Amino acid sequence: MISQIHIQKCVNSRAKDLDFDDIPLGKTFTDHMFLCSYENGQWRSPKIVPLSLVPTHPAAMAFHYGQAIFEGMKATIDSNGTPLLFRPEVNAKRLNFSARRLGMPEFPEALFVEALKTIVSLDRQWIPSQQGSALYLRPFMYADEAFIGMRAATRYKFIVMASPSSPIYNKRIRLYAETNYIRAAQGGTGEAKAAGNYAAAILPTEAAKAKGYDQVLWLDAYDFKAIQEVGTMNIFFKIKGTIITPPLDGAILAGITRMSAIELLRYKGFEVVERRLTIDEVIEASAKGYLEEAFGTGTAVGVAMIQEIGYQSKAIHISDKNPVGQMVLDTLNGVRTGKIPDNFNWMLSIDA
Ligand code: COI
Repeated sequence: MISQIHIQKCVNSRAKDLDFDDIPLGKTFTDHMFLCSYENGQWRSPKIVPLSLVPTHPAAMAFHYGQAIFEGMKATIDSNGTPLLFRPEVNAKRLNFSARRLGMPEFPEALFVEALKTIVSLDRQWIPSQQGSALYLRPFMYADEAFIGMRAATRYKFIVMASPSSPIYNKRIRLYAETNYIRAAQGGTGEAKAAGNYAAAILPTEAAKAKGYDQVLWLDAYDFKAIQEVGTMNIFFKIKGTIITPPLDGAILAGITRMSAIELLRYKGFEVVERRLTIDEVIEASAKGYLEEAFGTGTAVGVAMIQEIGYQSKAIHISDKNPVGQMVLDTLNGVRTGKIPDNFNWMLSIDA
């Protein structure tokens, strides 16, 4: 039985100490967090409390069997100081998709949105107004039942934390196409936002960074040919005027920025095709001068322009101009701050 959100406010906000011009993602957290517990088949006692440690038993099943999922989303502020949330209902649905895949309970979607609205309203002084900056929101759920054994847990926590962030990349990025490790295969958990997907990506990502790349470009599990996605982004290529992005084939995360970019690009008259695209086709397009652009989309990064892809011993060079990627980035930033009309009804405004 869900009751109203109980609110306990912090006494002194730490927001005044923040340098809003320089906030690396994920290092600073706001004053409050939302917390809700699941037991006896029900979500109970939703509350917002000052950010604090959450006591957890060492046998909590999330530590051992990995029942842990999360979301990423952003709150921004318009020129009147009204906080705005970007498509929170889509994150609510995706969280529940991930929950079903990992055998976890669904979280009520209306309460998800209410929790987000309430915490953003309370922590509104933490929302940066700088271009491209935002208050990154991290809803997540994990199994906290203390038990050793392989079954679905019976107790869970759902928490939302918030972390202000400046834009992550202010440069074009380099990707390393991985041919030893995979991220996901059909039937696995790749289309869920499961913590374990990220755990499996850490070793290859560190190796790619040691070679001077920014992120891994994941290829398919069958023969390392079809492009899937990038470390923390979906990927788009512009080849001979057509925008191509890999299809949601069960092994790719259904990015909300991806979905929004596709809607925006089609609205602007671009042909966008969701289809299988191999690394060989990208190499050929680059060699023949048809590879006009490549960019990645993700909540945390927004839109990141891609400069080069390393594949085996080759370097695939991509045109140094990104008019389409830049248009998507500028439009998303503009809609998020009320500077560009929200023709798609993406934004949810949070009144005082
Ligand atoms: C996001 O873009 O929101 C993500 O979840 C990626 C994360 C690893 C920063």
